[in-house]
Order: sequence, then C-alpha cells, then structure tokens
Amino acid sequence: MEPFRSHLFICTQQKPEGVPSCPASGSLAVLEALDREMQARGLNQDAQLTTCGCMGLCDEGPVMVVYPAGVWYRRVRASDVSEIVGAHLRDGKPVDRLVWNDAPAMKAMAVEHGEKFREAMAARDKAGMLPDRLDQMIRGYMPSRCLLTALELDIFTAAGDGANAEQIGTRVDANARAVGMLLHALVALGLLSKSGDDYRNTPESARFLVQGSKNSHRNGLLHTANMWHRWSTLTDAVRGGTRIPIDRDATPEWTRNFISGMQRHAKDRAPHVVRALGTAGVRRILDLGGGSGAYSIAFAKAYPDVQCEILDVPEVLPLTAEYVSQAGVSARVRLRAGDMLRDDFGSGYDIIMLNAICHMFSEEQNRDIFHRAHQALVPNGRLAVQDFILNPDKTGPQHAALFSLNMLVATEAGATYSEPEYTQWMKAAGFSEVCRIELLGPSGLIVGRVK
Ligand SMILES: C[S@@+](CC[C@H](N)C(=O)[O-])C[C@H]1O[C@@H](n2cnc3c(N)ncnc32)[C@H](O)[C@@H]1O
Ligand code: FES
Repeated sequence: MEPFRSHLFICTQQKPEGVPSCPASGSLAVLEALDREMQARGLNQDAQLTTCGCMGLCDEGPVMVVYPAGVWYRRVRASDVSEIVGAHLRDGKPVDRLVWNDAPAMKAMAVEHGEKFREAMAARDKAGMLPDRLDQMIRGYMPSRCLLTALELDIFTAAGDGANAEQIGTRVDANARAVGMLLHALVALGLLSKSGDDYRNTPESARFLVQGSKNSHRNGLLHTANMWHRWSTLTDAVRGGTRIPIDRDATPEWTRNFISGMQRHAKDRAPHVVRALGTAGVRRILDLGGGSGAYSIAFAKAYPDVQCEILDVPEVLPLTAEYVSQAGVSARVRLRAGDMLRDDFGSGYDIIMLNAICHMFSEEQNRDIFHRAHQALVPNGRLAVQDFILNPDKTGPQHAALFSLNMLVATEAGATYSEPEYTQWMKAAGFSEVCRIELLGPSGLIVGRVK
C-alpha cells in the first residue's frame, strides 16, 4: 500500500569540494523549488518529498527518482521544477526530456561508483588517513571564525548592495589586502556573492547579518563572537578547573550583546514556557535574572491579570526596560535591581522562574536559590527551572554537554546539570510533585510545587 500517490527522492549527498555531487550541481536549489511548488499547488497530500544519500550517479546530478513508477530524472534544474510538478506529480505524465531511462547504463554507473567508493575507502583506511568526521571537527573553527570576524568588522553592513574590496576595507577601517582575502572566503562560504569587482550580500546575509535589517541577529551573534574568545581559554580552564580571566568582558557593549544574544532564543521559547506552565490562578511571578524580560513579557501578554517582577543586576535593567517598554507591558512588569545570590526574594509569588540561570551557578548556589524560592512562594506555588538538561549520565544531549564547557570558560562554578540533580535539589528544598515538561528545542523545564 502506498500512503502517497508519488514519493520523490532527491539526492542531497554532500561530498568533499571538487568531487562531483548532486549538491555541487544544484540539488539544494531544486529541493527548495520542489517544496515551494508542491505547496503552492496543494500537492502535499498526494506526494511526499524526501532527501536521500548518493545513488551512485553523481556525474549526472542533480538526480531524482519518483516512485512507485520508478521514473528517474537527471540534471534537473530549479527552472525545470514547475514543469515536473505540474505534468508529472499533478497530471501523472513524466517530463520525457528530463527522464533518464537507460537502465543498463544507470546500473553500470551505480555499481562502478560503489566499487570505486569502497576501494577508495579501503585505500584511505590502509594509509591511516584521518577520517573525514574527525578532520571536519578539527577544522570546524575556520568557517565559524571567518563569519564571526565578518560580524565583528561589520562586513555585511559595509558590503550593502554592492561594493569593492577597497571600499569595504575603508568602511570597516581594515587592511585592503586582508579584507579582500576575507571577502573571497565569505563568497566561498556562500555568505556573499561577487560580480566583477563588487561584493554583495546574499538574501540570507542581507536579512540576518546586516546591522539594522528587519531580522538582524548581528548584536546577539556578537555575543557568540565574544564567547569565542572565552572558548579559546578552554584548555587552561580545564587544567585549572575554572574560567580564566580575559580582558574583554563587562563593557556596556558586551552587556548589550549578551542580553541581545539571550533574547534571540528566549523570545521564541517564552510562549512555549507560558503554555507549559499555564496561567490559571497565577497573579504574581518573580523572574530571577530575567535579562531581556522575554518570559515576563510573554506572561504579561498572555494573561492581563498577571504582575511580573524581574530581578537582575543594575547594569542590565536599563536594557530590560527597553525590551519591556517596546512590548508595551511596562505597567505590569516591575524591575528590581539586586543580587539573587544574596538578596531576599520577598514573598507571595505564584511562580518563580529560573530561565537559563542555574547553569551560571554551582550546585550549592542553586540549592540555596531553590531553598529561598520555596520560602518566597505561596502554598501551591511553583518553581520553574528552564535550562539545557543533561541525561542522568551527563554524556548527552550533545548541546547540553557542550554548553557545560561554555559555562566552565565563562563562569567561576557554573555547569549544566541533569534531571536527577534538579529533582533532588527541588525535593531537598521542600518542593513536591517535581516533574519535567518537554519543550520544543534544546531546553527542558523542571517544575516543583509548594505543598
Ligand atoms: C543567561 S542570562 C538569562 C536571561 C533570561 N532569564 C533569559 O533566559 O533570557 C542570565 C541573567 O541573569 C542575570 N544575573 C546573573 N547573575 C545574577 C545575580 N547574581 N543576580 C541577579 N541577576 C543575575 C544576568 O544579568 C542575566 O540577565
Ligand atoms: S551525489 Fe547524488 S548521486 Fe551521488
């Protein structure tokens, strides 16, 4: 039984540069066009689109096959897609000029490809070559560093709608020869395009990386650039057991980028957290280390009777005030300057939130916060911890395990923690009904209730 009338497989197998492959011949653009066209024609109920690995016909790419009839297409272009979707997927008539129906030749090519591939792998193995997976991991910093430097210098804003290397170099106040080299690498990475002597942003870079564009992430990404400097101290931090001081932190610009970086993720997660916690019977919320205020803002927007209070350090609160005022909820989101490690939390809260907070602190500090939060909540009140939560043996998920090192290089005693740890700390502080609520994305929510 076929759940769909047609099932399309398109090859998107990435291969090393210079080796023929479907992506190198444009299969990703074809994939995007297929998805767009199928949606536009309302064919998603009739046909399923699936990406697949190498089919051994790489020299003829992009290759695509449509089942159950087994119709093969080769050298497909994005400009062919409308015809294929209309004639084949909708009307059931394959586009003959693109169909590849020389079965013996296809089979011979695929078999030969498989044999050559296995031979090459065996030769590499015999020669003791570093596996690609390790090589890519080792060199992974190169594209990352290239993009971070471009963001730091604000290359994308300087390139605008088109400028040559000299103009861009002057605009960003950097050496023309070196800027030229960086621009070439950015084109190679698909982040800029070049025509004649001029470089311009790709649509993606123009949208996300140019300062001041509608969906610009530049400020938030500059926090990642700041973290790169911290990550380069990892070896010494592992030796010494804690972060190594560097002289880049704590300027007003650093703080603005940090809070912008937090807000980038928090604004997407906040509605999920509000939904997960629910607002029935909730009047007063304390948002410890609220940062950009994204979670309090989401609560205030979702529930007109809720009053939120954000406790954060004095340097951050002017930035919090900007976000809260832009969201139009200043009347119901109060800001309080303080230190959550020392200050009294107050009392009478229905929910206390710790969003992306616990990873900054040690086990002892978190236990103490949980204990004081318990005292500040009303009966039946809830403590909600949202963070990257490790598996019990702490070897995954990968993001949470890596983020623990992020906290090693950035804080005195921070780390990511596991669900059993959070559960135990909550119970020790007096909470009951401790449970985990799954959220979309990399973070999880652990909630405990006051009896
Ligand atoms: C990782 S950010 C999380 C911000 C916000 N909760 C979110 O998820 O977007 C940590 C926040 O805690 C604040 N913070 C750090 N140490 C603090 C302390 N001792 N007392 C109060 N706030 C603190 C920082 O200023 C920052 O706003
Ligand atoms: S890479 Fe697509 S068939 Fe080999």
